[in-house]
Parts: sequence; structure tokens; C-alpha cells
Amino acid sequence: MGIQFKNVSHEYVGIKTKDEAIININLNIEGSGEFIAILGHTGAGKSTLVQHMNALLLPTSGTLDVFGQILPPKKRERINYLRQKVGLVFQFPEYQLFENTIIDDIAFGPKNFKETKANAYENAKKAASMVGISEDLYQKSPFRISGGQMRRVAVAGILAMNPNILVLDEPTRGLDPLGRDEMMDIFKNIHEKENKTLVLITHDMDIVSKYAKRVVVLKEGKIVFDGKKEELFIHPNFKDFNLDLPTPLKILKYLEEKLGIPFEPKYSKEELVEYLKEAKLWIIK
Ligand SMILES: Nc1ncnc2c1ncn2[C@@H]1O[C@H](COP(=O)(O)OP(=O)(O)O)[C@@H](O)[C@H]1O
Ligand SMILES: [Mg+2]
Repeated sequence: MGIQFKNVSHEYVGIKTKDEAIININLNIEGSGEFIAILGHTGAGKSTLVQHMNALLLPTSGTLDVFGQILPPKKRERINYLRQKVGLVFQFPEYQLFENTIIDDIAFGPKNFKETKANAYENAKKAASMVGISEDLYQKSPFRISGGQMRRVAVAGILAMNPNILVLDEPTRGLDPLGRDEMMDIFKNIHEKENKTLVLITHDMDIVSKYAKRVVVLKEGKIVFDGKKEELFIHPNFKDFNLDLPTPLKILKYLEEKLGIPFEPKYSKEELVEYLKEAKLWIIK
């Protein structure tokens, strides 16, 4: 189960031009346990790709299998239920808040997916606690809280539907460094505690390096890399992907060059600091 793309292309038909946004995509995503980062420049096709995962967009050629549902669907086949299975958090999701209270906004999704009212609010409260929205905020207006909190409410609204796969389109964009780390720790928790598959679009290589297990790189609508994070940074074609190296790897390369500290890949600030503590002893000796 999970999601399988088979030769999927998507062409936006505009007034003047036809624009093939993703081309011949073959991609398998497991229904649990994955943490995938989707990388690529603006216009590479990332958003188009992920909107196929819950049938917001349908392939113009090729097929998808999303938890057994074949897309494009047969005539009159209902596919709305896929929005519950694969939860998609858009860029700037806080723009889509609209209810009078925070808790009503979070419960909107499950109410819509035919949960009983009691269950919907039960799910909403659980989701609120997962994103660190405390009970005293439930009855507040979602428009009278900080930007970071608004985004967490929007994420909770998707979590409340208990999707198998959570897809996040640039969830840390526009957040300050602290807000960014808090948001990522929320996702890490969801991934670890509930074993949910996470698919994350980001431009932030430090986030990729610290959190992702697998990376898919898109270039001009095509997949140019799909593999383990550890393999990406040492890939012979890495330069062609036009990606930056994550900060810990940059620092380690520099230290090797300038101080001869042996290069050993580290993927987060925390791992880097641990390694440098040892390296310091090594220099003094
Ligand atoms: N609604 C749309 N109509 C027409 N073209 C679109 C639309 N959305 C995206 N595109 C085009 O499809 C290509 C891929 O866009 P997108 O999937 O948004 O890339 P990314 O998310 O990587 O920035 C771009 O050339 C973009 O201009
Ligand atoms: Mg995009």
C-alpha cells in the first residue's frame, strides 16, 4: 500500500502555452515509516507532484495507485476519501483558516469526513496537543494568535483527520529560526510516535540533512535523484542538482581543508558539536 506513480506526467493547459510540469514520474512511497524530502528549484514541479498524492490534481498521462485507488478514477467514482488518507498541508496554510474558534477550525476536517461530532472534537483535541496548542486557546479566534500558532492550528486541522501520509509543502517558509525548529520537531514527533510517512517539500538543506531519511530531487519536472540522504551529498552528480550543502557538512569540509580534521559526515548541529569535541582533543594531542 502507499502511493505508486507510474509514468505520471501533468500538463497545465494555459491560454497560450502548454506546460508540462512533471514528466514521466515513477515513484513509490510506503504507507508508513518514511521521511522523504522533495527538493528542487522553484518551478521544478514539486507542488504539482505532491498534489497528485491526494488527487487534487490528476495525471494527464500515466496512472497512480493511492492506497489501492487507481487514478485517474473511473467515471463517477468518488475519490474524496483520499483527502483523509493523504493529508496535504499547503504553503502558508494559515490563509485557509476560517472558523470562529480554533477548536472548530481543527475539527472541521473530521466533521466533514463523517465522523460523529464527539469523535471529531476528540480527534481535534488530540491533534491540538500534538502541535502544542493548549486548551486555553481552544475558544479563541484563529485570527488573534501569532503567525506561528496559526500555522500550527492549520497543521492540526489536517492531523485531526488522522491521515496515513502527511504531505507538507514548505511548512517552515516565512518562520523565524525558532519557529522553524519548533515546527520541525512537531513533525519529527509525529513521524516517530505514530510511524506516519512524511513527505516534505523544502528549500532548507539543513532541515533535509537533520530530518529526512530519503530525498527526491526534481529538475525541470523530472526526478534526477531518489535515494538515501547520505547518498545524496556524496553523489558524483551533486553539482548538477544545483543544491547547497547543509551547514554541518560545509563546516566539516572547511575544517578538513584548514586544520586537517578528518572529514566524517555529520547531519545536524548537535552531531557536529559532539564530533568537534572529540576533534579538539585530537588536535591537542
Ligand atoms: N495552475 C497552474 N497553471 C499553469 N501552470 C502552472 C500552474 N501551477 C504551476 N504551473 C507551472 O508548472 C511548473 C511547476 O510548478 P510547481 O509545481 O509549482 O513547481 P515548484 O513547486 O517546484 O515551484 C512551473 O513551470 C509553473 O509555472
Ligand atoms: Mg511549490
